[in-house]
Amino acid sequence: MAAKTDFVVLGAGIAGLRAAIELAAHGHVLVVSKEAVAESNTAYAQGGIAVAMGGEADVALHLEDTLGAGDGLVDAEAAAVLVAEGPVRVAELIGWGAEFDREGGELARTREGAHSLARILHANGDATGAEISRALHELARGNEHIRFAEWTMVAELETAGSRVVGVRLLAADGRMTRVAARAVVVAGGGAGQVYSDTTNPAVATGDGIALAAAVGAELADMEFYQFHPTAFAKEGAPRFLMSEALRGEGALLRNHQGERFMERYHRLRELAPRDVVARAITREGIGTEGEALPVYLDMRGVSGVDLAARFPGISRFLAEYGLNLGRDLIPVRPAAHYLMGGIRTDLDGRTNVPGLYAAGEAACTGVHGANRLASNSLLEGLVFGARAAKAVVADLDKLSETDVEALDVQAEAPDAEAVEVVIAGLRGAMWRHAGLLRDAEGLRAAQAAVAEALETLEALGAGGRVSRRLVEARAMVVVAGAIVASATARRESRGAHFRLDYPQREDAAFCAHSIVAGGRVVFEKERNPGRKRAVGSISG
Ligand code: SIN
Repeated sequence: MAAKTDFVVLGAGIAGLRAAIELAAHGHVLVVSKEAVAESNTAYAQGGIAVAMGGEADVALHLEDTLGAGDGLVDAEAAAVLVAEGPVRVAELIGWGAEFDREGGELARTREGAHSLARILHANGDATGAEISRALHELARGNEHIRFAEWTMVAELETAGSRVVGVRLLAADGRMTRVAARAVVVAGGGAGQVYSDTTNPAVATGDGIALAAAVGAELADMEFYQFHPTAFAKEGAPRFLMSEALRGEGALLRNHQGERFMERYHRLRELAPRDVVARAITREGIGTEGEALPVYLDMRGVSGVDLAARFPGISRFLAEYGLNLGRDLIPVRPAAHYLMGGIRTDLDGRTNVPGLYAAGEAACTGVHGANRLASNSLLEGLVFGARAAKAVVADLDKLSETDVEALDVQAEAPDAEAVEVVIAGLRGAMWRHAGLLRDAEGLRAAQAAVAEALETLEALGAGGRVSRRLVEARAMVVVAGAIVASATARRESRGAHFRLDYPQREDAAFCAHSIVAGGRVVFEKERNPGRKRAVGSISG
């Protein structure tokens, strides 16, 4: 008989930790984290957490902004839950010790793109995610019902019939074991590593999404990948995030001629929705001969803000390259940042697979639609992490303990270098062919790269060889395949998905969610898996 716990939580970012804390009141929780708990997308979040703490009118305005940014595809019910429960969850988080920046004793708030007012809380200037992670992690570590398996990954979900009943774990030393659980909550974050240019840390390989898909979970809205407009752009330097809060505090965008250009693209200029700014920078960054041109963030004219104190992390990073926010133009261009799609869930984190729940970036709750409103993601993790855990508890009478066969083997690893070659090829192809500007021909090339990567990985994993990088590579292939299939099927442009060959938004045919299930893409009006109303079916 395998080891047992009541609940497994995959991922230790904001959604995973919040879910674990809730579940710990009802049983034993195992939180599985590929690296140390501090290494999650959450911990890297700079700008902040958007929350309307000023009463009903404030909440209504936050809803309006969220719907507006999402370009017609936000699930209004899910977004209403997000903005209404957000203030409660954030107040709870503050009660648990999360310290947000204050001015004169009051919570300080900044503004980011497509927000109609300043409502974004931040911590330690530009280290909001790290502070939230710290507070949740401390609380979870002190809970005797929560155990952490760090430097360990979930290599497979174990099933009995159609139900998820546990996980297969792969430790850093290659040891594989099984753990039985009544329910598994996937909160493994996003998949920025699918693209060669990303703001995401190396752990963001979409493992949870691929594991869920492998047991039959439906994926939704996978073509909507958000490209952050302003990642640092210097040859040889990491694509470090230059937070949208810089523009919230007055940073301007300038092209290679020193001109401000955003007024030609959107009335909100530098604070336009993220997809609009990202495409504008891409266009300004290509010369008439197709040559790359620099685009800059300019904070030189910003007064009344101590930039080094307000943005200490960014300032430290820039100093390594001899740059200073108040003195220099900062070269930027877009990079893959956030997956709006993911595992299709209802309003409570339930997937279509019994025993399997999802929350945070790995899930598609529908709150982001085609384009996420800046700083709504930490809030989503907090609100829907708690809701998914509550749903598990509500479903407990259907989630009886089920034995899974014991396993304790030392896995043989595949050729590590060959796996890296496959990953690099896939990431480059995704960036070139399934990035900000897409068309049918490029998407076909991306699809071919996905198919080739899959074939090579199958050969590398022959005979049961397995390693963390092989599991990650397979996950990236699954996620990339779903992005490409959905992007191919959506023959229109909307939010973060822009087709050069179909540049218009086409509500009649495509005001619907793409659902990837059983190797096909279908479009459904209803995003919630419990309330399906199919409107069309297109093979990916
Ligand atoms: C940022 O600081 O610009 C990122 C915040 C977000 O992704 O919402």
